[in-house]
Amino acid sequence: MCGIVGYLGTGQAYPILIKGLKRLEYRGYDSAGVALVNQGSVDIHKCKGKVSDLEDHLNGVIPEGTLGIGHTRWATHGPPNDINAHPHASGNGDLAMIHNGIIENYATIKETLENRGHVFVSDTDTEVLIHLIEDIQSKTSVDLFEAVRLALAEVVGAYAIVVIDKKNPDRMIAAKKSSPLVIGVGSDGDYYIGSDATPIVEYTKNVVYMEDEEVALIDRNTGLKIVTIQNKEKVPYIQELEIQLETLEKGGYDYFMHKEIYEQPRSIIDCFRGRMNVQQGTIRMSGIDDHAEKWINARRVIIVACGTSWHAGLVAEYLFEDIARLPVEVEYASEFRYRNPIIYEDDIVVAISQSGETADTLAAIEMAKEHGAHIFGVCNVVGSTISRTTHSGAYTHAGPEIGVASTKAFTAQVTVLTLMALSVAQKRGTISDARLHRLIAELNSIPDKVEEVLKTNDQVEYISDIYKNAGNALYLGRGSSFPVALEGALKLKEISYIHAEGYPAAEMKHGPIALIDEEMPVFVIATQGQSYEKVVSNIQEVKARKGKIIAIVTEGDKTVKAMADHSIEIPKTDESLVPLVSVIPFQLLSFHIAVMRGCNVDQPRNLAKSVTVE
Ligand code: G6P
Repeated sequence: MCGIVGYLGTGQAYPILIKGLKRLEYRGYDSAGVALVNQGSVDIHKCKGKVSDLEDHLNGVIPEGTLGIGHTRWATHGPPNDINAHPHASGNGDLAMIHNGIIENYATIKETLENRGHVFVSDTDTEVLIHLIEDIQSKTSVDLFEAVRLALAEVVGAYAIVVIDKKNPDRMIAAKKSSPLVIGVGSDGDYYIGSDATPIVEYTKNVVYMEDEEVALIDRNTGLKIVTIQNKEKVPYIQELEIQLETLEKGGYDYFMHKEIYEQPRSIIDCFRGRMNVQQGTIRMSGIDDHAEKWINARRVIIVACGTSWHAGLVAEYLFEDIARLPVEVEYASEFRYRNPIIYEDDIVVAISQSGETADTLAAIEMAKEHGAHIFGVCNVVGSTISRTTHSGAYTHAGPEIGVASTKAFTAQVTVLTLMALSVAQKRGTISDARLHRLIAELNSIPDKVEEVLKTNDQVEYISDIYKNAGNALYLGRGSSFPVALEGALKLKEISYIHAEGYPAAEMKHGPIALIDEEMPVFVIATQGQSYEKVVSNIQEVKARKGKIIAIVTEGDKTVKAMADHSIEIPKTDESLVPLVSVIPFQLLSFHIAVMRGCNVDQPRNLAKSVTVE
């Protein structure tokens, strides 16, 4: 979390920084700030709130300078206020720094520095680090580049930082460990820095993804130089960006989330394009094909993920066990890594992450690697840390997802995981040719079916209006619809702030049923399939307690429709692919309720899209 930008070049920095911060705001929006070097001074402007609040705070003043840094914060150390906002300055006011990450040993460093006369104004770990850099400079008279390197050698924790010095308008220093950092190399000697490539893409497609424990010196005269914390010089590896600028704009929609929900027919196609041959009934995924033996001989699959990605993992558990007959465990990355789990060399660990930067998922990967397991990454962001850390993987190709609540990334993850399960099943001989052909053809028809479900938008909006003031909501599903119930509940609570719980429908009677009264909306996935009759009984149980039933049913359904207060029909598909279509009404529902309640749909309170702290 926290987004950082930097610019050194021939143009004015401020417009580039502000635009970049708006692109990165999904990473946190507790405060925003910029610092620009101009005529021998470093001007810092910062305040609590969003980037637009910073613009208001500047009240029409446009800070000048061709070297600058900017930050949008997701608070960790110290409450979100003006003082804790970044950039932070050194004690003498010469240096300014932005930081994404956590300096774990900041308290010890702070105490030592206080004993040496340093005075701190904020509660942040970042201010401690910039004072440490200043202290090293004053003690040793090394230049700033070297002082940053030496300071970072003393630091425990995660960081992506950029430092500028009012005495040197020709240089900025950047470094990273665990938090992401990308440097854009413009054709005209301009350099850009971003937590991801989105603030950079409209200026240049040439980028360097910094590796952990690297420190970069960007100098107007000598260009880009990278060394490791151990002072070993590295040759910067310049790659070409693939993202298109239009994908970062709202494109006629009022909210990114709305746009992203509607992009799903396209993003699902992008996800299986080139991987699936419907006529031949084959799947080609190099990440699996190149390691076929590992998958054929795997003892089990362990899926690690957080948030919505974890829900996609739960859907995959049903797919892999049913189709590929491989035992699967799905773990919250944060729990898995601290549990001293048993991991075998013939296990395959699948890490699912939209951003490819989630700290807990990364840490779980590192641990599994130490045990010798094969690590497979399912990421959306190309070039992200997880995609580079894993042994093999498959991108979801959903395109940039900006709304904090994940929508198209979820359906793309489920699509990739379905392809993976089919490919592995084929290799392990656990699926008949007929079933494989059928499932591939069915998967191919999913984008059209999602398009159909999107047509229920007006009906979902009508239902949203009825339940928008609910205090609680229950989501129920069985089989692979259970993770969809979890995802539906998560969507509602994260953007509408209505308490919601997802439950396996049959488990309802072991607790949640006590909550049901005439005020309680109960959203049930009651599509045709092996547990349809059981779900019908669960619905009866809710009705007997006067709960309100909003059911997602297969088109043509009569039984549930007769019982439910409202029902939303979705097209029939193979039972194992239902999650790809049944999740759509839940996405629309939480979107409409959030809009009706006046919530900030794209930037819900307290959340961030990319969680780079543990
Ligand atoms: C945050 C986001 C969620 C996301 C989760 C995991 O909580 O708000 O939308 O599902 O992180 O993120 P990842 O990038 O690893 O999928």
